[in-house]
Amino acid sequence: MFKINDNYLKLPGSYLFSMIAKKVNAYSQANPGKKIIRLGIGDVTLPIAPAIIESLHGAVDEMGRAETFRGYAPDLGYEFLRNAIAENDYKARGCGIEADEIFISDGAKCDSGNIQEIFSADNRIAVCDPVYPVYVDTNVMAGRAGAYDAQKETWSDIIYMPCLAENDFAPELPKETPDIIYLCFPNNPTGAAVTKDRLQEWVDYANRTGAAIIYDAAYEAYISQENVPHTIYECEGARTCAIELRSFSKNAGFTGVRLGFTVIPKELKCGDVSLHSLWARRHGTKYNGAPYIVQRAGEAVYSKEGQAQVREQVAYYMKNAKYIMEGLREAGYTVSGGVNAPYIWLKAPDGMTSWEFFDFLLEKANVVGTPGSGFGPSGETYFRLTAFGSYENTVEAVERMKRL
Ligand code: MLT
Repeated sequence: MFKINDNYLKLPGSYLFSMIAKKVNAYSQANPGKKIIRLGIGDVTLPIAPAIIESLHGAVDEMGRAETFRGYAPDLGYEFLRNAIAENDYKARGCGIEADEIFISDGAKCDSGNIQEIFSADNRIAVCDPVYPVYVDTNVMAGRAGAYDAQKETWSDIIYMPCLAENDFAPELPKETPDIIYLCFPNNPTGAAVTKDRLQEWVDYANRTGAAIIYDAAYEAYISQENVPHTIYECEGARTCAIELRSFSKNAGFTGVRLGFTVIPKELKCGDVSLHSLWARRHGTKYNGAPYIVQRAGEAVYSKEGQAQVREQVAYYMKNAKYIMEGLREAGYTVSGGVNAPYIWLKAPDGMTSWEFFDFLLEKANVVGTPGSGFGPSGETYFRLTAFGSYENTVEAVERMKRL
């Protein structure tokens, strides 16, 4: 008789954003006349930029002609895209990442969930608290998290690194020594960023203790301050300890198109086994690559026109972020984030818990955000709003919140 992976049964509730969608749908069905403004999930709203669409169209046409038709993509992704990434995201910033250290995928969510597979089940992971729930949930599924404490909302075998106002929402080096450290900067959900010096401390720590850092840089395009690193490979020594995850979702609006990549430098080794070779083996076995047309679209993100157009989109969202920050501050909220990231992290007012504030805001202002506790216990009294809405909706949401 078959047996299930009962680690799945340990997971409390459903995935955070599915739970929110369910609640919002129920509210909207019960209140059909209300205009709900969704600033919950970090999903983009601007259409794909013209240079990218043009490239997509061209690639679709190529697939319809015998001479240019393509079947399976190469294991690690097409060279044209991996070269564009290596040149623009790494070499242009002085980081020596080679095209063959880049693995193209269908997004950073899958990669951030799957990457744990190449590590032994008895590794201890450390995560920021609050944290993007995928890192934790996938380690629970793999049996790496221990027992769940429903009261504390924590897992016994996970090391939590609180990110609070007192430490500018950046984690301190942990007291217990982890084997794998998940970091995400600019951060989801707090919108906080770290300086290069702070990140260097993490790289030094990982090299000193033999830990691997899984560095999620999905929001890199939103960095506006000079001393904030765009990639962990700006730090010395990162090639021997860090894996970097990147996404086309937030910088180029690919949430529905799906494209991302993982960087594993060849020097990152456990004994004499390179993680690059393990991930290559996994990629080749379990994955048939992002579609050719999507990889061509990704290439167009790096073209001159593509770059100008996606920068404009990022600026549009960051104008929203500024509007939210300033509006909510004026209304007396305590807010942070929103400068190097499209997320605004605010304190729930009047001692409300984050879910209480979620219900209150949905009911009284018809605005949807994300309760901080969904990202971990240290998010309990916080709330996240995204800057990915339309400008008009963002303005309206802020005005509604001011009137509460
Ligand atoms: C979020 O809202 O945190 C993100 O949209 C999640 C994701 O990118 O998967």
